[in-house]
Amino acid sequence: MSASLIRVATALPLPPARWTRTTDVVVVGSGAAGLLTALVLADARRAVTLVTKGTLGDGSTRWAQGGLAAVLGPDDDAELHVRDTLVAGAGLCDEGAVRTLVEEAPDAVAQLQALGARLDLASDGRPALTREGGHSRDRIVHAGGDASGAEVTRTLGAALRGRGIEVLEHTAALEALRTADGRVVGLRLARIRDDGSLADAGDLRARATVLATGGYSQVYAATSNPEGATGDGLALALRAGAEIADVEMVQFHPTVLWTGRGAAGQQALVSEAVRGEGAVLVDRDGRRIMPGAHPLADLAPRDVVSATIAAHLAATGDDHVYLDATHLGADYLARRFPGIARACREAGHDLTREPVPVVPAAHYSCGGVVADLDGRTTVPGLYAVGEVACTGVQGANRLASNSITEGLVAARRCAALLATELPAPGQAVEPAVGRAVDPTARRAVTEGASRHAGVLRDATGLATLAGVLATAPRRGLEQPLDLAAVETTALHTAATVLCAAALTRTESRGCHRRTDEPLTRPEWRVRLVHRLDGAGHLHTRTEPVRSLVGARGVA
Ligand code: SIN
Repeated sequence: MSASLIRVATALPLPPARWTRTTDVVVVGSGAAGLLTALVLADARRAVTLVTKGTLGDGSTRWAQGGLAAVLGPDDDAELHVRDTLVAGAGLCDEGAVRTLVEEAPDAVAQLQALGARLDLASDGRPALTREGGHSRDRIVHAGGDASGAEVTRTLGAALRGRGIEVLEHTAALEALRTADGRVVGLRLARIRDDGSLADAGDLRARATVLATGGYSQVYAATSNPEGATGDGLALALRAGAEIADVEMVQFHPTVLWTGRGAAGQQALVSEAVRGEGAVLVDRDGRRIMPGAHPLADLAPRDVVSATIAAHLAATGDDHVYLDATHLGADYLARRFPGIARACREAGHDLTREPVPVVPAAHYSCGGVVADLDGRTTVPGLYAVGEVACTGVQGANRLASNSITEGLVAARRCAALLATELPAPGQAVEPAVGRAVDPTARRAVTEGASRHAGVLRDATGLATLAGVLATAPRRGLEQPLDLAAVETTALHTAATVLCAAALTRTESRGCHRRTDEPLTRPEWRVRLVHRLDGAGHLHTRTEPVRSLVGARGVA
């Protein structure tokens, strides 16, 4: 495909560097993928600096409820996990990457346990396993009932201490440092003050730069993700010359707690594991919604459940549906899902006695920086692991609980690669300076994306969104950069690519549902890959997907 007139920021109004330091590897982000990458590299005696814009352990992992998918049950089989992942991925998974994930997942879980993770155990002392949507076997390892991500974060955060890793909290990664021939050799960093302004900018030169910055679900007004999920890594990588792909594939979780019309920001998740244990979705009259929509009913792949709910809401004019778990029993629910029961109580609902109101919300970015499972991107020196990466594991729709697993597997592999061999050092040129998107645009971006590029989309709405994005105000070069401008620019970049890709893909597949193009078209079994030129024009091309299973259970 040719160059388009779609434009995103090519650079930021960077503060000048007041210091320069060097390290072997700089890791950005402190969710599961970032923490484990840093930890394994430190054990391999690499000098590691871990940068996070919040505090250590901030990131989406901490909020994950369900757990980690891995083949551990006596009735399970790697082929089944591969098949379930490919089927959920709706034809866009890279089967080779999926096989690697599935084969290495049990070792990643064992490593977590060896590091001290207190997983929920069955009576035989092995990890207890549950099921989530799209899985044909019980294979979700969990902890603290519904606090799996918190336990992963606690374990890795504790293990990190005393290993000589330099941790820079409240620090923003603003821009990649690049050599004249385009290799990435570190980052321009700045300390984030309490008021969001930036201070003490400097250059951290690194042989390898690893992005583990998470996704871009904050592009939407309502999301299960924390406020930091603004796509900073995606935008930074794009500006650094990296390719990004599958950006239109944003997974909406079918069940976040509905707290009122127009609720914005991070919403409380009601784990799919609640449906895995038997809860069902019902409408306002108590009628079940999912039977008839898919053979797996309430445990259909997530894209199918969210699209079915969205279609139901559009048809009825209701603004939420209900999740009925009452038949599971109060004692059981309180024991198995203590955090969810508490969140419901705080919102005025008793999960044990009444169906609770739920609605889909943005949850996971299947798209991201094109990378392999060793973290290599299309730019030498730049690596991406976890949700920021697009490895082909998640395809057009991530299979539930494959994401922390992917983060851990990719972290181990990327760290092993960099422990063996680091890219050569290089001389950085001064980064370009450009105009940031004004933070006042954020609301229009998130509301526009929610309205026009949500679970269900069409060309008219997407064109409206494209207009909103094209006219987003830019800041003058003289205005100092702050965190709000960094994040708004990243959100604007992610939303612009998402919108362009969603307009280009004239079909429905996985997380991308076009009401004006409802069919899945064989000719669209390709990935949309994007790169940026120096003028800020987005170039998009299609890439074939290697050896995948095509057929899904249901159209
Ligand atoms: C959930 O607990 O439903 C979320 C799990 C996931 O997103 O993989």
